[in-house]
Amino acid sequence: MKGSGVRGQGSVGVREEGRAAAPTPLTALENRHLLGIAELSAEEIRLILDTADAMKEIGERPIKKVPTLRGKTVVNLFFEASTRTRTSFEIAEKRLSADTLNIAASASSVVKGETLADTVRNLEAMAPDVIVMRHTSSGACHLLARICRARVVNAGDGTHEHPTQALLDAFTIRQHKGRIEGLKVAIVGDLLHSRVLRSNLLLLNKLGAHVVACAPPTLQPVGLARMGAKPTSSIDEAVHEADVVMMLRIQLERMHGHFFPSLREYYRLFALTPARVRRAKPDVIIMHPGPMNRGVEIDSDVADGPYSVILAQVANGVAVRMAVLYLLAGGSEGAG
Ligand code: CP
Repeated sequence: MKGSGVRGQGSVGVREEGRAAAPTPLTALENRHLLGIAELSAEEIRLILDTADAMKEIGERPIKKVPTLRGKTVVNLFFEASTRTRTSFEIAEKRLSADTLNIAASASSVVKGETLADTVRNLEAMAPDVIVMRHTSSGACHLLARICRARVVNAGDGTHEHPTQALLDAFTIRQHKGRIEGLKVAIVGDLLHSRVLRSNLLLLNKLGAHVVACAPPTLQPVGLARMGAKPTSSIDEAVHEADVVMMLRIQLERMHGHFFPSLREYYRLFALTPARVRRAKPDVIIMHPGPMNRGVEIDSDVADGPYSVILAQVANGVAVRMAVLYLLAGGSEGAG
């Protein structure tokens, strides 16, 4: 999306069914893909968040549908399990009136040995406009973008990036705090295997937040400070006076080896408990991208408590994904 001009920021030309057409001040972002936060400027991130504000309003109407992507086909291609991301993309696509198709790798010819490239070339032959893909391999979406004409949206690739998660996280922070710049954000958990960490670090640094990242030394990626976070192995230090605490899941399925003695030990040293929440600012918000390991990285009293915005994150995922699809695929002819 680099180099895209931002026009009409905050005024999205989304038409309502049966109402007069609003002016269409906004064209799509210039680049055709959303592969990672790394490729977005701060201005482009703000454009997506502002557009999501308008999309959220559509979700609050009695009829939650606009014709913006009518006639466009979106393929959701998931090579890895997902509840929130897959569902919210599908709802977003339907709210924008796109024709949607869901393909789970387990029910496709991938199980017969077909390669990603061949799978994509065959899907391309049916002329989809957008492919939303989640894949176990880092960089798989970049490969896809090189070989297909459709716009590609990364729904999570290996341990690399999960850009729409970071965007919905930013939207949720902005919704509750009114800003991102200057906030102290503590990110705690399995940093090593987390694509959510990588996308959030990129985004939060671009928008001027101060990030402290906490994990046992064995779960800290090399170069954490270079990535824009203050590393620590003390959760008490991380959450001290934090405006936002973002907990990350222990990703046992990606661990090939022993990274900590036991889940009980991990809970004792790194879980977010009510006592630890009290170290943060009195108006702290608690986030988690899900799925949660209750009683491992987060106490149920915290996950379901008054500071939790975890379900707001899920709700905001629809608006943010509508914004991304609109900006990439709506274009001037789609939105007018
Ligand atoms: N946050 C997230 O990516 O959740 P899912 O794996 O359920 O999509």
